[in-house]
Amino acid sequence: MTQLQKVKKAVAFIHKKTKNFKPEIAFITGSGLAGAIPPLENKITLSYADIPGFLQSGVPGHTGNLIFGTYKGKKLMVMQGRFHYYEGHPMKDLAISIRTMFLLGVEKLIVSAAVGSLDLQLPPGSVCVLNDHINFMANNPLIGNHDKAFGPMFFDLSEAYDKKMRKMAMDTAKKLKIKAKEGCYLAVTGPNFETPAEIRAFKKLGASVVGMSVVPEVLVARQCGIAVLGFAWVTNFGCGISKTPLSHEQTISESKKIEGKFKSLLEAVLPKI
Ligand code: HPA
Repeated sequence: MTQLQKVKKAVAFIHKKTKNFKPEIAFITGSGLAGAIPPLENKITLSYADIPGFLQSGVPGHTGNLIFGTYKGKKLMVMQGRFHYYEGHPMKDLAISIRTMFLLGVEKLIVSAAVGSLDLQLPPGSVCVLNDHINFMANNPLIGNHDKAFGPMFFDLSEAYDKKMRKMAMDTAKKLKIKAKEGCYLAVTGPNFETPAEIRAFKKLGASVVGMSVVPEVLVARQCGIAVLGFAWVTNFGCGISKTPLSHEQTISESKKIEGKFKSLLEAVLPKI
């Protein structure tokens, strides 16, 4: 089966379950941030496991639900839990969920993630509003995975992260007194955290934050013309800057402290999108 056929199968199932609900905005929750979802009207929850063609997430802190509903008039689709390359999924398969969003009618995507910070002005608890990225995964979900139904093979990334939404998000964070700064996300495969030498190198390359997701999703979204807003929540300083050893438990416990803040930021941002 081609990826287009798989995606169409997923879309047909979702249409049936949601009575042809057409989401305009999609939101992907990051590690430990699954509770940051605003209250939705007419909420419908589907488990990834039940959707034909969909992958399953097996990482602690990542739930696997696709949620549909309306918030202040905005029609939303939420991926509660994402798929990571380090789980062993073929890189190509990471495109399926984003391409499903596209065929459902999504025009804007909000991605969120827990990250390590390389910037002293982005301490744990603050948010980096993404303005660019560096793909350090040495792989790409679009390789050998082209179908013109999902956009052109070659496409521009001079504004991978939508400038207008970025500014609006920064202004909103300021109003809510949430520490925020624009910056660049560097994607590694994981699952290990970085070495101190890698963190020093990534800083020299111009990265503000480092994480193990986001980039594959953004590449697929941009190919099919979906505009992206990215929130990278800092759970720790990068290895070597941080005084203590890093762990996934720390990522989750720091994210839990951030969840409430993120929810209020999202609730303020969504009506302006
Ligand atoms: N590195 C990579 N990914 C992360 C980190 C980190 O320090 N913290 C949370 N996700």
